[in-house]
Amino acid sequence: METNSIIELINSHRSIRKFSDEQLTSIQVETIVEAGRWAPTSHHVQAYSIIVVKDKEKKEKLAKLAGNQTYVETCPVFFVICADYYRLKQASDKHQQTFEVGEQEQVIVGAVDAALVAQNMLLAARSFGLGGVMIGGIRNDSEAVSTLLELPEFTFPVMGLCLGYPAQNPDQKPRLPHEAVVHYEQYDQTKIDEAITEYDLLMKQYYHERTQGKRSETWSEQMAAFLSTPKRPQVGSFIKKQGFLK
Ligand SMILES: Cc1cc2nc3c(=O)[nH]c(=O)nc-3n(C[C@H](O)[C@H](O)[C@H](O)COP(=O)(O)O)c2cc1C
Repeated sequence: METNSIIELINSHRSIRKFSDEQLTSIQVETIVEAGRWAPTSHHVQAYSIIVVKDKEKKEKLAKLAGNQTYVETCPVFFVICADYYRLKQASDKHQQTFEVGEQEQVIVGAVDAALVAQNMLLAARSFGLGGVMIGGIRNDSEAVSTLLELPEFTFPVMGLCLGYPAQNPDQKPRLPHEAVVHYEQYDQTKIDEAITEYDLLMKQYYHERTQGKRSETWSEQMAAFLSTPKRPQVGSFIKKQGFLK
């Protein structure tokens, strides 16, 4: 495999959830946001918005709404990245066109655009020695988050992003083996079971070491439990309320 400084930055990813008190400069924040703005975007719709949150009280509220994830409050800057068709509605109105956002497709486009923006931002931040973690927990109560941030119709929060200077140095979390996730020319189902078994052992060891023996579940156990109940069923109805999927 080849390497260079960008590959090294990408491949050394770890989520950071503990931050020092050191603040980001406003130039850093603007540089990170600018890197987000340069993400590729489906059909050039640019169907996202970034809300920059530094206000302590607001972060505190968002931390609670995200399921008491304290790092949302303790990070110096929290970003909420939204899917956003509000501007696109204005563009449609400007030209007296009908505005069709009734399909799943527009929801996917907005969520993908937001995710690409968020990952660009995280990488840009890491290039300054910052660290962070994305926060899907803000979809625990999409409606309350949207009210707090005054999100208009045709928008919905997709993810949060905590950024700051790392005050922890966690090991990298192992990824699924190459054979489980990469296929050449066509999907190959034959190696998946074996790859999961191999990965289960690796993750069991990883959790055991990371938690001094308190946790030792396998990845497949963890996923089976995670997927055994519905997840955030209110997201769908909120997205509809915002004008999509109608
Ligand atoms: C869209 C998205 C949402 C996430 N939401 C949360 C979250 O709410 N809370 C959290 O602690 N981590 C969250 N994470 C971080 C993942 O748990 C983490 O990326 C994963 O466990 C792999 O660990 P790593 O990033 O350290 O490699 C999220 C990651 C993504 C991509």
